[in-house]
Amino acid sequence: MSEPGDKPRAGSGGGRSDSGALPDYYPFVAEDILRLCSPDDAGVWVDLGCGGGPVALALSERCRAHIILVDPNDEALATARESAAERGCSDRIRAMRGRAEELPLADQSVDLVVSRGSIYFWDDQPQGLSEVYRVLREGGQAMIGGGMGRDYPQWARQEFIKRRHEGVRSKGRKAYERFLWLRDPETFAAWADEAGLPEFEVVGEGGKPPEDARAGLGIWLRFQR
Ligand SMILES: C[S@@+](CC[C@H](N)C(=O)[O-])C[C@H]1O[C@@H](n2cnc3c(N)ncnc32)[C@H](O)[C@@H]1O
Repeated sequence: MSEPGDKPRAGSGGGRSDSGALPDYYPFVAEDILRLCSPDDAGVWVDLGCGGGPVALALSERCRAHIILVDPNDEALATARESAAERGCSDRIRAMRGRAEELPLADQSVDLVVSRGSIYFWDDQPQGLSEVYRVLREGGQAMIGGGMGRDYPQWARQEFIKRRHEGVRSKGRKAYERFLWLRDPETFAAWADEAGLPEFEVVGEGGKPPEDARAGLGIWLRFQR
């Protein structure tokens, strides 16, 4: 689902490397989530569309919360479980198969839902967002979207965006237009309206092309119950 060449090198710092690998952006994503949401450190958090769990793992190094990982892909969940075991945080991380549109979680049971790079693949975004709202406790927060973190080094952000956009453009005009549409703040706002969210905020500029100075700042839908 990602584009060739856009995977960060896990565990690397913010410096340039000779191999062309980009530094890991997940620590920067985790910092943004903590800064924007200030969630209850002792709560229950969900990483929705977790893939191999990089967001949850970066968060787990910075908090004490229990994190439930949800993804429809069994292979991704197995990878996430293995990585959690390697890092010694299996006691705080649980991985469950599930889809955003039908979350395997009880009403009002969660303090924070984060989801990075996944909403673009959901079959029904408004339904997924209303499910996220359903599982949030009173005061619980959600941060759904995509990005590399505000403090990810500028040179790496530019290179990432260049590679990403080149990759999608090579699939043709229609694919590129859809890519931009999925990351447009107006699209996010329309999904949130359709989901009936009482209040929400769209943060960031979305999928701007590399020649646009606002490129790479990501896009997030934030809301609270
Ligand atoms: C590009 S990966 C992002 C993984 C990870 N969150 C990250 O930031 O690297 C997208 C993930 O969304 C998951 N996904 C696809 N459809 C989904 C759905 N309907 N509900 C939840 N997750 C979904 C995929 O299985 C995949 O693991």
